[in-house]
Amino acid sequence: MITPLAVLVPLAIGSGVLAQNIQLAPKQYHNLPLGKIKPSGWLYDQLTVQINGLAGHEHDFYDYVAQSDWLGGDSYYSDLEEAGSYWFNGLVPNGVIMDDATIMSQTQQFMDFVFANQDSTGWIGPEVFDLSKPRYLWGRYPFLFGVMQMVEYNSSLADVVIPPIYKFVNVANSMLQNGTGFEPWTQTRWGDFVIALEWLYENYPNGNEDLLLSTMSLIQEHGVAWDEVFEDQYFPKTATENLTNPFNNVLTWHGVNMAEGLKAPAASYRYTHNQSQLDSSSQGWDLLFQYHGRPSGIFAADEYLAGLQAVRGTELCDVVETMFSGSYLYQVIGDPKFADRVERIAYNALPATLTGTMWSRQYLQQQNQVAAMNMTPDPFPTDTSYSNVFGLQPNHPCCTVNHPQGWPKFVTNAFVTTPDQASLIHLYLGPFSVATTLANGNAVNVAVDTIYPFSDTLTTTIRADAAFTYYVRIPSWVSKGTIAINGGAEEAVAPSNGLHAISVGAGTTTIILNVPPEITLESRPEGSVAVHRGPLHYAFDISRNQTVLTQNAQQPLAVDLQFLATEAWQYAIDPSTLTFHSNPPSSGTLPSPIFDSGLPPLTITATACLIEWGLAGSEFVDSPPENPECTGAPTEITLWPFGATKLRIGEFPVFKST
Ligand SMILES: *[C@@H]1O[C@H](CO)[C@@H](O)[C@H](O)[C@H]1NC(C)=O
Ligand SMILES: *[C@@H]1O[C@H](CO)[C@@H](O)[C@H](O)[C@H]1NC(C)=O
Ligand SMILES: *[C@@H]1O[C@H](CO)[C@@H](O)[C@H](O)[C@H]1NC(C)=O
Ligand SMILES: *[C@@H]1O[C@H](CO)[C@@H](O)[C@H](O)[C@H]1NC(C)=O
Ligand SMILES: *[C@@H]1O[C@H](CO)[C@@H](O)[C@H](O)[C@H]1NC(C)=O
Repeated sequence: MITPLAVLVPLAIGSGVLAQNIQLAPKQYHNLPLGKIKPSGWLYDQLTVQINGLAGHEHDFYDYVAQSDWLGGDSYYSDLEEAGSYWFNGLVPNGVIMDDATIMSQTQQFMDFVFANQDSTGWIGPEVFDLSKPRYLWGRYPFLFGVMQMVEYNSSLADVVIPPIYKFVNVANSMLQNGTGFEPWTQTRWGDFVIALEWLYENYPNGNEDLLLSTMSLIQEHGVAWDEVFEDQYFPKTATENLTNPFNNVLTWHGVNMAEGLKAPAASYRYTHNQSQLDSSSQGWDLLFQYHGRPSGIFAADEYLAGLQAVRGTELCDVVETMFSGSYLYQVIGDPKFADRVERIAYNALPATLTGTMWSRQYLQQQNQVAAMNMTPDPFPTDTSYSNVFGLQPNHPCCTVNHPQGWPKFVTNAFVTTPDQASLIHLYLGPFSVATTLANGNAVNVAVDTIYPFSDTLTTTIRADAAFTYYVRIPSWVSKGTIAINGGAEEAVAPSNGLHAISVGAGTTTIILNVPPEITLESRPEGSVAVHRGPLHYAFDISRNQTVLTQNAQQPLAVDLQFLATEAWQYAIDPSTLTFHSNPPSSGTLPSPIFDSGLPPLTITATACLIEWGLAGSEFVDSPPENPECTGAPTEITLWPFGATKLRIGEFPVFKST
């Protein structure tokens, strides 16, 4: 343990500099306030599907967040211990970017309720049912993220919400001073608290600089040393169930903690000014995907880091937290690798793990997933055999309340500005509109018209009061991209650090960006391969039948679904035969929803043959066999965007057809 005095003044802030005078190290890019960026086209439809689905209806019926539960919640997960906090963080941006008055009033009421029930010490509740349980800080972190978004959207709220937040920071600080308020979850997720404290420091310091810096130091001192976890010598290189974790907190190798913890060294850097911490976040990111990564963009952790085998699971919370962390790390560090991966996760791993209507979600998704059912034996060492069922709350409720942040935060981080606010950067390619005012009162409107990632072309119309530099991210996989401005000739894109700069004049500018990808192969374990084309990963979509396992009594649309394969899936493919096909919708409009079987307008065909490929349990698949023999004649199979598949083969054995 540490002595409180030793941490009152943060280390490494420069000799002779008074604590209250330190500047946070600048971010490379700034996010725009919530509400300035909206989805359009198919992405608007996707957000509509989400708020018409489970995410938008939880407040009406789901025990953990229904209003009836607020008054003295009846469960461990209630309220600000986890459920209410996660839900609030996700639903605030859903409500605002979709202009949904019902959701906005639910989140406003929830926030009002929390502050109205703040106790005399400053602790924010409502309290959990078990009042003898010690108070832990971490469940409040996502609540603070929700408040930050509310205030960014409507700065008039600051007068009301900032004073109670400071009462809370005061009590948190004295708890940390006397060595209370934390347990292993608080100790792994401390970076999120630092980010909230830094937001206060930059936007509403109100004379509390010393309190904020002291609290940042204390939570970090009591927390896990993520910079050590991300050292190559300690980082787990295989599935972790048989490894001994060298840290005294085994939750360091927990998937969601790591997804959140990736931000921690970078967040710490901002107040310590220690540059090595940027390298630490960046290295943690690289090691995580090198040793546990998936072609769908995400990593595997069926509770704990799970290696490369295609049958192991990825928790939905890993998906949405990694997207959010990648967006944050891009803004602090500026490396385009973060943006490339966030886009890949959003368009592949996220939609793959929910039904098309977004009423049912998995806890764990698999790269090769030949059934979604209660499995025997259980392929996941720590999670239950029910974890890959699509349902209301398979295995654990957390992803029910946490998944709603995925799509809206992808939207709110899709554009950023340079720190001087003079330039706007289009980061995540897709259909969006932006209305904002840049430096010197330059009012700018941007509309991106595209069905990307279901096409290779984006048409952007910009209206600006004054000239400025506009940037668009060119993904790392682009080799033959072109750009044409105001009807001019197509020119090769020329990105610098992933961004192509365009001088935009006052008035209207039209930009046509074309990013035609090649089909690429990724090597996977046992000599297997995964197929990509640009932002999309392609998989064999196994046809399925469906059994309703349970139905919620209050909300009949909230069902648990078992999916079983109704066709053979034991295919090897010949990679030399992969052929891309595009069937753009004649109406210009994609089906709604788009992420379900047979719906996306893009496919890849492959010559394939059936092979011997067994099951390792009742319904989960063995590793792909190496150098398999065909047991049937070559045939052609169709691969679909991974996000539209619910049962699939995403990593194939290979054979030569000629
Ligand atoms: C912003 O918050 C103020 C204060 O609560 C409220 O009066 C106003 O209606 C809010 N504006 C919007 C656009 O929500
Ligand atoms: C620690 O501080 C908190 C907040 O001031 C207080 O409620 C709690 O009783 C203190 N605990 C101990 C063990 O001193
Ligand atoms: C862990 O040990 C068990 C029991 O020996 C073994 O079956 C399993 O394959 C091991 N897992 C890994 C990832 O090495
Ligand atoms: C800076 O950060 C690195 C990596 O996180 C760490 O090893 C080093 O001790 C830090 N330096 C100081 C002065 O705190
Ligand atoms: C689904 O398909 C499996 C395999 O063909 C079959 O055993 C099962 O009876 C089917 N279930 C339903 C509900 O049709």
